[in-house]
Amino acid sequence: MTDILIDTSASVMTLTLNRVDKKNSLTGAMYTALADALALAQADDAVRVVVFQGHETIFSAGNDIADFLGAPPDTLDAPVFRFLRGISTFTKPVLAAVCGPAVGIGTTMLFHCDLVYAGDNAAFSMPFVNLGLCPEAASSYLAPQLMGYGRAAEALLLGEPFLAEAALEMGLISRIVPPAEAAALAQRQAQKLATKPMASLIETKRLMRKGQASIVAERMVEEGRSFGRMLREPAAREAFTAFMEKRKPDFSKV
Ligand code: COA
Repeated sequence: MTDILIDTSASVMTLTLNRVDKKNSLTGAMYTALADALALAQADDAVRVVVFQGHETIFSAGNDIADFLGAPPDTLDAPVFRFLRGISTFTKPVLAAVCGPAVGIGTTMLFHCDLVYAGDNAAFSMPFVNLGLCPEAASSYLAPQLMGYGRAAEALLLGEPFLAEAALEMGLISRIVPPAEAAALAQRQAQKLATKPMASLIETKRLMRKGQASIVAERMVEEGRSFGRMLREPAAREAFTAFMEKRKPDFSKV
């Protein structure tokens, strides 16, 4: 699977989204590779930290829209939901280096990362409504928590993007750097974490996330059921078809 590169060195597993010609949009096979890698990293004591990264110009354009049409993830066993359960319950530190657009799950997966280093070209968006869908990854809970309801409504109802400065202010990311430096900074911070006592890291992360853990798990199930149903409804089909045909969607009849 070359669309996901997996490299483990010095106790850090780095997962690189590597489908740049399709803007690192994520297919079912890519989610499976990511979910498998996370399961391995969770079980293997030799892995102490996980880092996600994309390319200097694009983190991810979100779910592959052709996949949404051809192989919609309409059950909770689907690879995307397996990946989301994996990242949201991962007990060791997770970092991300994010440059360029981070669309849909490219943004919502970051709610489940502990440290996010963003290039100054990063642009975050959750345009689920514009696709006839609803939020996933518990973002319907976590976005209002982090951003406040007003800004979450702009992001989730209007689907408006927000830039690195706003993401820093709300605490979604930890630092903004030039795009060429984001991946190296994430690696340096991951190496620092990898030398710290593992039990302390795991317990600290558990305690920091304890207040939201059960709500996140429940919300992901509820969102997943709605998302799976909406994928097959006329608004979403129109949005996906319009994207593939490179035209604006017409929601006047849905
Ligand atoms: N699924 C499938 N293919 C995608 C894709 C996606 N989510 N995002 C981009 N691509 C493909 C395009 O179809 C295009 O393919 P082609 O070269 O065969 O025509 C290629 O990647 C380049 O995309 P393009 O839109 O030309 O790049 P851009 O730099 O102008 O814009 C984005 C980049 C990310 C802003 C834009 O591609 C985009 O908005 N993508 C869709 C995002 C989305 O709605 N994702 C779903 C979220 S739930």
